[in-house]
Amino acid sequence: MRVGIIGGGIIGLSLGWQLQRRGAEVTIFEKGNVGEESSYAAAGMLAPYAEVGFEEIELMKLGQESLRLYPQFMEELSEDIDAGKVPKFDRCGTLLIGVDRDDTEHLKRLYDFREELSLTVEMITGTEAREREPLLSPKVVSAVWLPDDAQIDNRALVGCLKKAFESCGGKLLEQTTVEKLNSSDGEVKGVSTGSKNYAFDNVVLAAGCWSGKLGGIPDEIRPPIRPVKGQIITLKQTEDCDLKGIVRSPRFYLVPKEDGTLRLGATSEEKGFDKMPTAGGQKELLEEAWEAVPSIYDLPLIETIAGLRPASRDHAPIIGQSALQGLFYATGHYRHGILLTPVTVYLLVEEIINKEVPETLEPFRPGRF
Ligand code: FAD
Ligand code: GLY
Repeated sequence: MRVGIIGGGIIGLSLGWQLQRRGAEVTIFEKGNVGEESSYAAAGMLAPYAEVGFEEIELMKLGQESLRLYPQFMEELSEDIDAGKVPKFDRCGTLLIGVDRDDTEHLKRLYDFREELSLTVEMITGTEAREREPLLSPKVVSAVWLPDDAQIDNRALVGCLKKAFESCGGKLLEQTTVEKLNSSDGEVKGVSTGSKNYAFDNVVLAAGCWSGKLGGIPDEIRPPIRPVKGQIITLKQTEDCDLKGIVRSPRFYLVPKEDGTLRLGATSEEKGFDKMPTAGGQKELLEEAWEAVPSIYDLPLIETIAGLRPASRDHAPIIGQSALQGLFYATGHYRHGILLTPVTVYLLVEEIINKEVPETLEPFRPGRF
């Protein structure tokens, strides 16, 4: 089976790797270099318990399932490349913190909702929060502790996925933009890069926030995807300032990484395809994080960037075969693409190879729009 994948972010690379493992012949097209868009910008939180929104139960279940699959995913990666290079799956937990009455009331609502869902969750005082993270300011008055969330170095992971895909025999075409999908008689035939046509039995659209832009897709099945800008800062941790796990408030998050860096994110802005970090965005993130963890003040600031989250109209991913035979979508992962990678990939591989539509994906099928 010949499969063409449009997009070499974490979703496209992982899918390509797993399809190669299952005997397919895969080509990935990437308009730039792999993993330099949203999958690079991400903070790498694997946090279905912190991030679940009030009406997003199905999405949380998908995240839970993906978190469960992560160790298997990492194990398989260790089989295919130098295991020493594979980043750590870190079950560090999330500490949601509050600095005033408003935050505390908000945290209580978050806590009650998680209790109702029978999740493992604890409401604790500011003092108890400082026992977990001594760097927290005395201004922190309340917190919710979610021990089951995890994190990973997404940048290192993407590098490993590229190696694994190529070591399994996958063909990677970087600096190669797919301009158009080719189809006839309601069936996919391949893709065109403008200068060249490529024939495939199946094509997967994994082009992140550009997934709605591809030529050759009939308008009535075009996925409704838009970019949501997120600015994120990388700091370098020091001996005097090293957080243990994810610290998060309604306005920022801090995620310490294995390599000694600390990611501080993120804004959420409707600015189209604009990826320029702004003074205002950086100021807000730094100020909010500094209020909660004052010692970040002296940390070296090593990078400021913005990424574009691929958001669907209902903010849930779009996974599965479209109304066009042989055209599959793996897009719209919005804020949770790093978390949702294993579940997306394992289930979509089943659908592509065995033509079985997994029940878990029902709420996320392309046909809902
Ligand atoms: P991308 O990584 O954007 O990859 C799509 C690729 O397709 C790009 O490389 C692009 O160049 C390529 N492409 C597009 N069009 C074409 C074309 N026509 N031809 C060829 N190639 C094409 N998620 C989490 O789970 N946890 C987090 O902590 C987290 N934090 C985030 C923080 C920020 C600031 C941002 C912006 C996002 C965050 N996310 C997080 C979300 C996560 O980054 C995304 O959901 C995920 O990376 C989406 O992966 P993707 O492969 O679909 O998209
Ligand atoms: N999931 C974190 C973000 O999208 O900023």
